Amino acid sequence: AGALRGVVALDGPSGTGKTTVARKLAAKLGAGYLDTGAMYRVVTLAVLRAGIDPTDSAAVAALAGDVRVGVGTDPEHPRAQLNGEDVGEEIRTERVNVAVSPVSAVPEVRRVLVAGQREIIESVLGSVGGIVVDGRDIGTVVAPGAPLKVFLTASAEVRAARRSAQDSAAGRDSTPEHARASVERRDQLDSTRAVSPMRAAEDAVVFDTSELSIEQVITALSELASRRGLLG
Ligand code: DC
Repeated sequence: AGALRGVVALDGPSGTGKTTVARKLAAKLGAGYLDTGAMYRVVTLAVLRAGIDPTDSAAVAALAGDVRVGVGTDPEHPRAQLNGEDVGEEIRTERVNVAVSPVSAVPEVRRVLVAGQREIIESVLGSVGGIVVDGRDIGTVVAPGAPLKVFLTASAEVRAARRSAQDSAAGRDSTPEHARASVERRDQLDSTRAVSPMRAAEDAVVFDTSELSIEQVITALSELASRRGLLG
């Protein structure tokens, strides 16, 4: 297969394998990778460090413009920075998991980050030529013109089991019950917020990954990109 030309928008809730699929697909297709969730997590960490209540939307909005969010676009070496400091691990802690939904529901946070995401996408398209963008609102808001939009889903059981396995692998305490509650709580908040709720774009391919391995999903998406004429 040739290299990806253009944007692949990859949306969906956590526990669908989305981030792993996005990174491996980007690496396979010689494309850049953007983890927009990491950007919301970096702002959330800044909110927590500033001692701001994540549900105080006015205070969160006031901080949003002052946070320098850095993310890498190399799928082999994802990187997340807060004001120049590497925070790749700290943004995956439970403290951030719990606070990220209210923070990402604040319109000013979304305004600032979506603008940054569009800049990064343009820059990667201009250099590498193709990018896989991982998020919740990529097909609907960030890159509505993307030539391939995919919305990954999976059953709640499967997503909770995957989250729990991820947590254990990373040395974090977790049980399937706890993971399920955490995953469902966040999806509920993310899909019901007023501003750009998580949902599949009308022209997205909705893909249930419950019964599929990561490799199978990557193969299916590569074939889809190829059929759409995106592999040059
Ligand atoms: O993909 P993730 O779990 O790292 O995302 C963390 C949170 O960020 C998620 O619960 C909702 C928010 N988010 C968002 O609102 N819009 C995006 N494009 C990506 C993530």
